[in-house]
Amino acid sequence: MDVSPLFEPLHIAGLRLRNRFVLPAMQVGFVEGCGPSQRMIDYLRARAEGGTALIYSESCAPDHPSSYWQPVFCVLSEQSEGGWARVVEAVKGAGACFFLQLWHPGAQRVPSPVFFNKDAPTGAR
Ligand SMILES: Cc1cc2nc3c(=O)[nH]c(=O)nc-3n(C[C@H](O)[C@H](O)[C@H](O)COP(=O)(O)O)c2cc1C
Repeated sequence: MDVSPLFEPLHIAGLRLRNRFVLPAMQVGFVEGCGPSQRMIDYLRARAEGGTALIYSESCAPDHPSSYWQPVFCVLSEQSEGGWARVVEAVKGAGACFFLQLWHPGAQRVPSPVFFNKDAPTGAR
């Protein structure tokens, strides 16, 4: 089988990917205070250094109490903004492109009685 096309650049909507390898969105448990930890930054940088062309963040909730229910979830907020900027810098610095996956669980949200968002609205059950 000829796999050489996998190593060819790809242009999509003004974005140049250096090859066809993509790291999909995966929650890997390296969140700290609802933002990227240094471990996450190092982990994603290492994938970019390995040659991956496009790296997705793990699912990342908008900053609204109804959109997450545990501190292990990533949130795009004023508090995590600096951490995300460091992720982008690390990944782009190693030659890869970066997409942030925005995610809202909607009616699937399962509030935890011990987490601070426990009173935020959930879907009807
Ligand atoms: C540990 C783990 C965490 C994942 N987290 C996410 C996620 O945050 N967002 C998402 O869209 N998919 C998530 N996925 C699904 C992966 O993106 C998906 O498995 C990957 O695209 C491979 O696709 P396939 O399982 O259909 O081969 C996760 C998968 C695993 C194994």
